[in-house]
Amino acid sequence: MLKMKFTSTLTLAFLHLALAHGASVQVQAGYHVIYSYSGTTPPTELTSLIQQGLVGGILLFGDNVDDNLPSHVANWQSSYKASATYAGSPLLIMTDQEGGQVRRLPGGPTSSEKAIGMSSTPESAAKQAGSQAASALGAYNMNTNLAPVLDVFRTPGDFDDQYGRSYSDNATLAGLCSAAFVTAQQSAGYIATAKHFPGLGSASSSQNTDEVPVTLNASIDEIRAVDEVPYVSAIAAGLDMVMPSWALYPDFDDQYPAGLSQKWIQEELRGRLGFKGVTISDAIEAGGLKAFGEDTNRAVLAVGAGMDIILAAAQNATQGQAIVGALADALTAGSLKQSDFDASTNRILALRESLGTNKSVGFM
Ligand SMILES: *[C@@H]1O[C@H](CO)[C@@H](O)[C@H](O)[C@H]1NC(C)=O
Ligand SMILES: *[C@@H]1O[C@H](CO)[C@@H](O)[C@H](O)[C@H]1NC(C)=O
Ligand SMILES: *[C@@H]1O[C@H](CO)[C@@H](O)[C@H](O)[C@H]1NC(C)=O
Repeated sequence: MLKMKFTSTLTLAFLHLALAHGASVQVQAGYHVIYSYSGTTPPTELTSLIQQGLVGGILLFGDNVDDNLPSHVANWQSSYKASATYAGSPLLIMTDQEGGQVRRLPGGPTSSEKAIGMSSTPESAAKQAGSQAASALGAYNMNTNLAPVLDVFRTPGDFDDQYGRSYSDNATLAGLCSAAFVTAQQSAGYIATAKHFPGLGSASSSQNTDEVPVTLNASIDEIRAVDEVPYVSAIAAGLDMVMPSWALYPDFDDQYPAGLSQKWIQEELRGRLGFKGVTISDAIEAGGLKAFGEDTNRAVLAVGAGMDIILAAAQNATQGQAIVGALADALTAGSLKQSDFDASTNRILALRESLGTNKSVGFM
């Protein structure tokens, strides 16, 4: 994505004008929310929500996938493009195509991250996996992968290692593999997402933020010396997106999980590590966030902390709609700062625009 700097700069100038003169607060909020649904028949209201500009993208799960999915995706993009709310760039259509056991689409990568890290040529295996993920996404007209996992596992059988989701317990090696995957997938034209920042590598097998609140006691020194190492490599490779985790890391922020934490997102990720891309949340309905109210409240907290995109992953279009409404209300009421939100919108739209200019697939 580095090669697109020139286009992005022009785009930003254009979008500032477009935002200033046009998009309603609801439409602007829509760019920030990814919807989901269940089964192989998309709900009819989804197309109408897309045409109204209230959808930023769609997350697909395994149960959404059949032979008709590529034409559903093409129809969403063309309905959006034909609508009055079209922002000049495609919707973000995404899934989790990590490799090994965690694949929502037919096709590669068939090797797990663990197998890649243990192979005799890990970097070239990771590069091949990035290309395979790109091909799998392309076959379904998708443009965004919620992968790779950058977590550096600690103990055999722990949270990441139990499903082979971590390249290595060697942070340097995990970094080399992460950067190779990101470079291969992004140069083929598909957005990559590094997760789960700053890392779930020290979580035990039962510490699953989808289900329960998770506290990880690793010191900030250890987190920087181990867990963040692959982020340094992936950011240097031009990484597009980062997904912060829902775990609490009390040594750095004892109040908010990383994805709701201004300290993690703004001070550490953007400040210390210099990340300039887009942040996307993990599933907003996760059990790990039960102390933080309804999904709508969590979304406003996350955006206030610096999260650009909210993943409404409950497979229910109403959830995404409710979050768009809550973000719009918070902007109108002034509880979210408009200038910060504009900057966030510009990051998202610049990333989307890069699909239109340099990434042929997923733009119709
Ligand atoms: C970790 O991986 C790097 C890169 O492959 C390698 O140079 C280093 O020796 C490894 N460290 C250990 C302790 O195995
Ligand atoms: C983490 O630290 C807290 C507070 O000191 C403690 O209650 C908890 O047991 C620790 N967790 C682990 C897994 O060590
Ligand atoms: C869909 O989400 C909305 C908003 O979060 C919720 O009120 C509703 O109960 C959900 N419906 C189903 C069928 O899960």
